[in-house]
Amino acid sequence: MLTLLLWAAIPSLSLLWWLSVPKEEKALSQTTFDDPAVCAMIIACTGYDCSSDRNTINNVQSRADPNQRLVRTFGIDNAFTTIDENYRKDFRSHAKEKITLDDRRWKTIADLARQLVGTAIPQPGSDIANIRLDSLAQSVTLKISLHILFDRNPFQLDEEVILEIARTINFLWTESKSTIDPSGADRERLRRALGLIFPGVGLTARQNPLNLILPAYETLWRVILLCFIEVTFRHRARAEWKQVLNDFLADPTNAHFEERGPRPGAVSAADIINEALRLYPPTKRVYRKFHIAGKTDPEMVAANIEACHRNPAIWGSDSWLFKPSRWRNIGNEARNAYMPFGGSTFVCPAKQDFGPRMIGVIVAALVTHILQCDWKLELCVGGPNGGEELSREEPLVSDRNNYEWIEISRRLSHS
Ligand code: HEM
Repeated sequence: MLTLLLWAAIPSLSLLWWLSVPKEEKALSQTTFDDPAVCAMIIACTGYDCSSDRNTINNVQSRADPNQRLVRTFGIDNAFTTIDENYRKDFRSHAKEKITLDDRRWKTIADLARQLVGTAIPQPGSDIANIRLDSLAQSVTLKISLHILFDRNPFQLDEEVILEIARTINFLWTESKSTIDPSGADRERLRRALGLIFPGVGLTARQNPLNLILPAYETLWRVILLCFIEVTFRHRARAEWKQVLNDFLADPTNAHFEERGPRPGAVSAADIINEALRLYPPTKRVYRKFHIAGKTDPEMVAANIEACHRNPAIWGSDSWLFKPSRWRNIGNEARNAYMPFGGSTFVCPAKQDFGPRMIGVIVAALVTHILQCDWKLELCVGGPNGGEELSREEPLVSDRNNYEWIEISRRLSHS
């Protein structure tokens, strides 16, 4: 009966949600900027041109306002959504503490990643011959994130619950960007699935585990997936890259991550991951609310990180190409235009080490397994471009829902 009542309440809750969206937020004009110097100013919440006209909204508010969609959709209260500067700083320190790992811990995480991929990919002789690539990347990333951030044993996490959480987060994330009311039923599904992993946690906004899960899982899984596809299936140099990643997984220290082999032109694991973050920055745009002194209305502005990362005037005429060797000689202009972890004021605590190295470990675990077992990419019927884009010399489409149709399948001995 109670369930029936709850279901019946959903349409009216939707209406309430829409009414609760501040009117001003619905109507703000929005401009997107592509120039790296301007993008850096936007990220720092200061302004968007060289005039002395400055944003009058304080930094935390300027960043929090565009993120209120995440509060409504996921019920979170974290560094991205708060206007309380002390809470933001504490949250950042707490996150930083969680993701600061010594080399011994990195070794454990690398072994864990290898085992998780090994368990997810069916063994020879199994009836299962195909697996969805996006599910694989999501499941391994989410399990490792839950282990590092909340000490959960990844082998005790139910696969169905993990995929339910992963898929519902993606779905809700996409919905939260549109003007459509995020579905109450989907939010409830997510809440219930999280309750199975965090029993008894009262989901007040500050206790919500999504506060940490979202910045970690949401940023990591897609770049892991796309880097894995680039390295494993798309390029002639892939044998060398696979070897570099394979060696890194065996010894996942920071020194090894940065190390280039003796061969002329050799690349490091860090070069491969930097290139993936350049071509496929998980945060494609950083949004701020501005009210420029002297202007009547506030406005929404966006720094287009993806455009900065692909600008041929900065990166060369092959800016669209996945080319880790470009990181061997990177100039200042390119370095300044590279902002996958944001920039000054709110720079990501995972920038220095955790983010790139974690991508490296999970991609390496996937690549190493695929090296050992003979798998190939399989494009499912009904994919948007019939898989054409995989062979095109263009970046892969990086939208969240574009990879539902790619599977890997076991190569038959005669093929
Ligand atoms: C590849 C992985 C990651 C990428 C690309 C990334 C990207 C970003 C970006 C672009 C920002 C700035 C947002 C803004 O200016 O509005 C940011 C901030 C932040 N990130 Fe990450 N992130 C990653 C991983 C992580 C992880 C694993 C955590 C830990 C849970 C994390 C926690 C945070 C926090 C707490 C902030 C806010 C910092 C502040 O307010 O001072 N990120 N991240």
